[in-house]
This record gives sequence, structure tokens and C-alpha cells, in this order.
Amino acid sequence: MDLEEFRALPEWPLILRDSWETNARWWQAGFTEGGDAEYEEQIKPIVREGLRGARRVLDLGGGEGQLARVLARDGADVVVLDSSHAQLVMAHERGSTGVLGTGGSLPFVTGCFDAVLICLVLEHVVELDEVFAEVARVLARGGRFLLLLNHPILQTPGSGFIDDVELGEQYWRLGPYLHQDIQMEEVDASVFVPFVHRPLSEYVNRASAQGLALVHMQEPAPPPGFLARAVEYQEVQAYPRLLVLHFERRS
Ligand SMILES: C[S@@+](CC[C@H](N)C(=O)[O-])C[C@H]1O[C@@H](n2cnc3c(N)ncnc32)[C@H](O)[C@@H]1O
Repeated sequence: MDLEEFRALPEWPLILRDSWETNARWWQAGFTEGGDAEYEEQIKPIVREGLRGARRVLDLGGGEGQLARVLARDGADVVVLDSSHAQLVMAHERGSTGVLGTGGSLPFVTGCFDAVLICLVLEHVVELDEVFAEVARVLARGGRFLLLLNHPILQTPGSGFIDDVELGEQYWRLGPYLHQDIQMEEVDASVFVPFVHRPLSEYVNRASAQGLALVHMQEPAPPPGFLARAVEYQEVQAYPRLLVLHFERRS
């Protein structure tokens, strides 16, 4: 569905929030506590390195707190904010400090963090401008904003590896990259997650409009532990799944 049409629905915030309440257990079982190779081998090291030395960190959409705990072990004081009650209950059980809220309206005073982390969240968020405005507001001047996304160029809905036996061709098909939309994707048996797609320029330019300047970008290859499980990806190891954007609050 077109993103603007979806946003015109009065019930869109409830649809998105309910989806994560329903799917929190599925996420926790498959992607946390060492269950996912991409987190263990790639995301956690990138987050540690990217936010090295940060002291007051907001993990926005931090879920059950796995990244917050990594940063806390490095000495940071980390607050997890998430819109899902089920995620926060688990965050508390696992030792993180969590706050219920939404990214577009943060319950924190201006300039109180020296870093904000958002990992694999904005693909599920409609109110992008509001979130970036709030990130800029709660960051101190010079503060770091680390954003991790499913790569929006190569992981567009409809994209993927095609092995065309008849034509004898193998290639990576791209979905309709410029079209901003939202789809309920069945990511596992009977597990439906809303995925928002927008082009990369939307992330960079909308962040920039809030005074968040892009200073570095990473497109890592899928890590060995992921490739060992995803046989079909062996053919396309040079196609990144993850995009990492490092911003700094300039004004
Ligand atoms: C894929 S999980 C990622 C969790 C965590 N960042 C991690 O990397 O382990 C996405 C999380 O974003 C949260 N979320 C989605 N929309 C949100 C919003 N508008 N404000 C705050 N949290 C949101 C969901 O509840 C869910 O916990």
C-alpha cells in the first residue's frame, strides 16, 4: 500500500503497535540472546565500535534491550525506549532500563543524550520526520546518531536472488525502489510484520533537514554465520543486507 495512503488511515498507529505486541515473542526467540548470527557477528561489533566512548545513550526502538546491554557493558548509561510493552517487559527481565513511548514524541529533555542508536526500527516506522526531529532535539550538539537499516536499495520488497533455470541466468532482482510503500510481509509461518520501504535519499535528506549530518556509511557483506545458514545467499555474497549510517548533530 502507498505510504501516504496508509498514513491517512486514522488507525495506522494501532496497526503498527499491535503488530509488535503480537510478534515480540517471535523476535525475542529468533533474534536475541545469541540466536541470530548477523547480530552476534556484525551488528553488535558495529554498534560497539560506532558508539565507543558514548556515556548517555538512547536506544530508540531498543526492543528487549540486547544492544543496550552491549553498550552498558562498555560503560554507557543506556535507556531503551520502545512502543511495545511485551518488548519492555523482557528488557526489564534481562536487566535493561526501559521506557514505553514512540519515537516521534520522546519523553526526554532537550540535549540530554550524547548518542542515539536506532537499529532495524525505521523500516517499521511511518512518522520518519517526527522521529528525526526528536533525535536531533534530545541529542547534545556534536552528539552521535547511529542508524542501522535493512539495506533499502537491495532489500526492497520484491527484490531477491533469482535462479532462472530456463534462461540459464542468475541475478538479483530489484523491487520498485523509488516507490514508498508499506507491506505486511510474512517473515515466518503466520508471522506478519509491517515493512515500510523508502529510498536511501529519504533517510539521508530528512535527517539532514533536522541538522543531522551524515559523516560515515558502511555496507558490510553478510557475515559467515549468516551465509552458513542461508544457502541461497552463497551466490550473492557481494550484496549487502545491512546499511549503517553514522550521523552527527551539527546545529
Ligand atoms: C526489529 S525490532 C529491533 C529491536 C532492537 N532495536 C534490536 O536491534 O534488537 C523493532 C523494534 O522497534 C519497535 N518500534 C517500532 N516502531 C516504533 C516506534 N514508532 N517507536 C518506538 N519503537 C518502535 C518495536 O516495538 C520493536 O521492538
